[in-house]
Amino acid sequence: MEKRLHIFDTTLRDGEQSPGCSMNLEEKVRMARKLEELGVDVIEAGFPVASQGDFEAVRSVARTIRQRSVAALARALRSDIDRAWEAIRDAVQPRIHVFIATSDIHMKHKLNKTRSQVLADTLDTVRYARSLCSDVEFSCEDASRSDLVFLSEVIRTAIGAGATVINLPDTVGYATPAGYGAMFRAVRNAVPETCGIILSAHCHNDLGLAVANSLAAIENGVLQVECTVNGIGERAGNAALEELIMALRTRKDAYKTVTSVNTEEIYASSKLLSELTGMQVQRNKAIVGANAFSHEAGIHQDGMLKNAMTYEIMTPQSVGIRHSILVLGKHSGRHAVKQRCTELGYDLSQADLDRVYGMVCNLADRKKEVFDEDLIALLDVRDVDHSELYHLDGIQVSSGTNMMPTATVALRYGGRKLADSATGDGPVDALYKAIERLTGVAGMLMEYKITSVSAGRDAMGEVSVRVDFGGVVHTGRAMSTDVVTGSATAYLEALNRALVAQKRKNGQSRSEHVSATATAV
Ligand code: KIV
Ligand code: ZN
Repeated sequence: MEKRLHIFDTTLRDGEQSPGCSMNLEEKVRMARKLEELGVDVIEAGFPVASQGDFEAVRSVARTIRQRSVAALARALRSDIDRAWEAIRDAVQPRIHVFIATSDIHMKHKLNKTRSQVLADTLDTVRYARSLCSDVEFSCEDASRSDLVFLSEVIRTAIGAGATVINLPDTVGYATPAGYGAMFRAVRNAVPETCGIILSAHCHNDLGLAVANSLAAIENGVLQVECTVNGIGERAGNAALEELIMALRTRKDAYKTVTSVNTEEIYASSKLLSELTGMQVQRNKAIVGANAFSHEAGIHQDGMLKNAMTYEIMTPQSVGIRHSILVLGKHSGRHAVKQRCTELGYDLSQADLDRVYGMVCNLADRKKEVFDEDLIALLDVRDVDHSELYHLDGIQVSSGTNMMPTATVALRYGGRKLADSATGDGPVDALYKAIERLTGVAGMLMEYKITSVSAGRDAMGEVSVRVDFGGVVHTGRAMSTDVVTGSATAYLEALNRALVAQKRKNGQSRSEHVSATATAV
């Protein structure tokens, strides 16, 4: 029999309070709407006593969300609870979330309170919160490092005072799955009153165990898990919602649990959060990272093309990603190259495929990823005689203060060596003018971009250009540690593409493009 698990999302509270993740009121409301669409059960909107801004954001979320519970956090202080209640009282389903630390280390050094004071505060504040709101969650902060006998006493007190949910956080991410699961088992045995309420897990990721610990808690009877989108949260973050939900769904056989989350909204929620906070997820992040549904190894690509289940345990569509990606790179096989060519509208013979595959391998050795536009460029020149393209033999550029930038360029074309010089407004302008004199092909530079693709003073730069040749724009790209050489290569790539396209169009011989001004050397 499957259990219905409640998802308590704390992206807007535990997540938002971590460095680099803050959101303003409008952003919080936008994210809360997305969480409502995603279908979490509870949206913890913030900690109203923390600031006026947080109070107003929580109040706006509470007034906006109609389908889900909205929770606000409060320390075990009546004044905090008043502020929290003020912020969420207009919610359709409000929840006050009260917490106090129960571990000796926190009670002694942080709260400076004895165990009996903590028990008294628990009784008083949960009772008070319950007098305001019918749904009260109580958290024993640092529960996983608390003495089990004392923890059980606090839990019994909180339930007696009216708590509807008891949350036992692994506040510092110290627990192991076996230990965290055992804590819930022990508490359920020691406090039979837990039977009538919801037990909840809240895990931090300091040892990378937040999701594993949450799953262990589920196996030991919790009916609520607390998590955040993209796993954002204090320090190393909280349990990642997308990982938890997809583990539960993909391994329903093991966890026998259902949630109300619409998994197809996962990717959009992750994207929205990154957009709002500016915090990107790492490429290899499970479920929502750029590589999560990308395959590069030839054997994997081959398997994927035969049956996606060979290398994917869930479909990208199930998390809202349109399709998997077979990345063309140096590990790709023929099968993947052929498939991508077909998708791009090129029906290749075996001989053509062999040639294009060789070209892809060559290119992939020079740049990490072969994009569609690279493949199209390769496909377009596959039957071109390479002696009919311009190749860069060498360049020399001089520029500096109080001198006219000058470039000398040497090219190879059709077995001939050509060289010429030109001056310009800058070294790149001089370079392009020299190429224009040599080839006799005039181009108008529409876009010129240099991006650093590695770090340090010897970083590789990628130069990309868009050049208008007689009304048709062609692109060129080159990587080099020397940006001037990269600029020449990128321009020549665009020029060669223009010539090939022109030749295809009118079957013209391109030898006429060789400028009369070019000096044979
Ligand atoms: O990690 C934690 O203990 C918390 C509580 C306030 C619930 O975030
Ligand atoms: Zn926390």
